[in-house]
Amino acid sequence: MEVCFGDTIIAEHCKKNGILWTGIDINEIFVKYAVKKGFNAELLDLEQINDLPKADTFIISGSLYHFQNDQESLFKKMLDCAPQMIISEPVINLSNNKGIIGKLAKASASVNGKTQAFRYTEKTLLETIEQLSKKLKFKYRVESLFDKDLIIVITK
Ligand SMILES: C[S@@+](CC[C@H](N)C(=O)[O-])C[C@H]1O[C@@H](n2cnc3c(N)ncnc32)[C@H](O)[C@@H]1O
Repeated sequence: MEVCFGDTIIAEHCKKNGILWTGIDINEIFVKYAVKKGFNAELLDLEQINDLPKADTFIISGSLYHFQNDQESLFKKMLDCAPQMIISEPVINLSNNKGIIGKLAKASASVNGKTQAFRYTEKTLLETIEQLSKKLKFKYRVESLFDKDLIIVITK
């Protein structure tokens, strides 16, 4: 289960390796594109879904920042969906730049017309995960810093 998939890179990897893939995204263009390529993609708003289909692995890449206002309910959904979750989240972002570049980056970040300028740093992401792990009682490990993304694996 990949939420906020955007592109079909992981879907293609799964197909090559005989792994079933289901994707959810709020963007009609991304969903239509994935469906056209033969993938099992659905147009859904993750914030509006209460029960996600069960999966072996839950993946969210480059998208956690969209749910900054209600991380807890997202994590509850993830934990309910799969025994293992992979989060890949950018922690080096132009939006965190204090100068003109940061202002431009913030202005250009939007989903369905709504501006979403918030981004994590390594520190704020790890603080958030640590707090949630205590509250929701899950384990996590930082797998690596890959390019600009911190990759975190969560298990129940
Ligand atoms: C920055 S893109 C990341 C795309 C891809 N996962 C990647 O790593 O390149 C964020 C994605 O989250 C999707 N998204 C944002 N809010 C969403 C929501 N509430 N429900 C489902 N998808 C959402 C957007 O449509 C977009 O495809």
